[in-house]
Amino acid sequence: MDFLIRPARAADIPAIYELVAHYAKQKHLLARTCRQIAKLRHTFFVAVDKQTHAVIGCGALEIFSSKLAEVRSLAVNPACKNCGIGRALVAACLHRARSRKIAEVMTITSSDAFFQKQGFDFALPNEKKALFFLTGTHGEV
Ligand SMILES: CC(C)(COP(=O)(O)OP(=O)(O)OC[C@H]1O[C@@H](n2cnc3c(N)ncnc32)[C@H](O)[C@@H]1OP(=O)(O)O)[C@@H](O)C(=O)NCCC(=O)NCCS
Repeated sequence: MDFLIRPARAADIPAIYELVAHYAKQKHLLARTCRQIAKLRHTFFVAVDKQTHAVIGCGALEIFSSKLAEVRSLAVNPACKNCGIGRALVAACLHRARSRKIAEVMTITSSDAFFQKQGFDFALPNEKKALFFLTGTHGEV
């Protein structure tokens, strides 16, 4: 499949919404409203089919500080899986992180085997691990 990766445009928001909603229904991703996607649009990349110009994948790099960023909302159209699109979207996120000199990139995912193939690991060097605490509140995502 021939595709390209580019930063998301305003016109891509409905397609990103559909991709994320598809996997949110299956509990693989956190649901996003079009309003939230619009607000975070600058963090998103999309994969576009070179022939049809359809958006067939998306992924975002949310930068929290010069130390930490997170790959979020990574989704590939089910009909286009296993063509290297997910890998290319993660590579775009990692390239952006490197170019902004962000030290660490993390992700919270059920697709851990996929992310391990992209070089992610469960722990940092020196046995440092990420631990989570749920506050029980529902903050703006
Ligand atoms: C996970 C996901 C993004 C992978 O996208 P994809 O375009 O199908 O993946 P790619 O074709 O780029 O695969 C790259 C490599 O990972 C492997 N891979 C793909 N999905 C995998 C999975 N679920 N588990 C393990 N390995 C996987 C591929 O076989 C390929 O391996 P190779 O380098 O040895 O050839 C896609 O399946 C998806 O949208 N999943 C649902 C949403 C989700 O879980 N997102 C992640 C949370 S942020």
